[in-house]
Amino acid sequence: MSDSSPLLDQELYFAHLQASSLGLPLRLFPSLDSTNQYLLEQADRGAPEGMLAVAEEQTAGRGRNRRLWHSPPGKNLYFSLLLWPKVPPVCLPQLAMLTALALRQAILRQAPSVPLQLKWPNDLWLGERKLSGILCECPPEPRGNTRGIVLGVGLNVNAQKEDFPPELRETATSLLWHQGRPFSRERLLAEFCNALEPLYRQWCSADSLAPFLPQWRENDLLARRPFAVERPRGRVEGILLGYTDQGLMLMKTPQGVELISAGDVHVRPLPHD
Ligand code: BTN
Repeated sequence: MSDSSPLLDQELYFAHLQASSLGLPLRLFPSLDSTNQYLLEQADRGAPEGMLAVAEEQTAGRGRNRRLWHSPPGKNLYFSLLLWPKVPPVCLPQLAMLTALALRQAILRQAPSVPLQLKWPNDLWLGERKLSGILCECPPEPRGNTRGIVLGVGLNVNAQKEDFPPELRETATSLLWHQGRPFSRERLLAEFCNALEPLYRQWCSADSLAPFLPQWRENDLLARRPFAVERPRGRVEGILLGYTDQGLMLMKTPQGVELISAGDVHVRPLPHD
């Protein structure tokens, strides 16, 4: 860690935390390989629902599809939250979309007019660039009949353009870079837990994403533009038709309507951004 990066202030985090069952206990580390890896191991040792692991830097931060998540020290947020939802395991992937919705709400509480958009299945974009990525992973062992899940979030908060490696400077952004002012990482973290808690409770009883889809649609990066999806069984291009209550994407393609359960989505930048 560089001496100039202020460490996350636990007191400030707890001062903003209103959630009663998510975001604690808090485990804060100057450096970790991966907060997801840490929590997966803790889950195996019986860690409770709501445990939050945060690292000032990650030396092997994991992205989707075996990519690395660039995790420089002190400026951004890298965190993971452990849940043990009592729902059928097939529902667990839905939590990625719920996490993105909660993250969006958390940021808007600190900056109500930031043009945040949701990108299926689990990214948050800001002004045509990626602001945050979410990686959900399940501990291998269930607890009784319940499968756990680790929600891993990387959010670019106070990184400057120069803090990103050259290959990300055209496609990524941070809150500071876009808004021109720093954001409180402690408050963002607490507000994420505050926002997720009621969504999570509602989702556990609904067993479906149906109550949340209107909010997703209003802020959907993929609406009204062509895009491509790289799936394990090939690339497909088309436009969005919508989502099922289980969070699968319906896409209109030249070959007909496709139901997409997973894949990397690529959009072309809109002109004038
Ligand atoms: C993506 O590829 O978009 C997902 C990136 C997820 C990165 C976060 S950072 C905190 C947590 N720990 C990890 O190792 N990965 C996730």
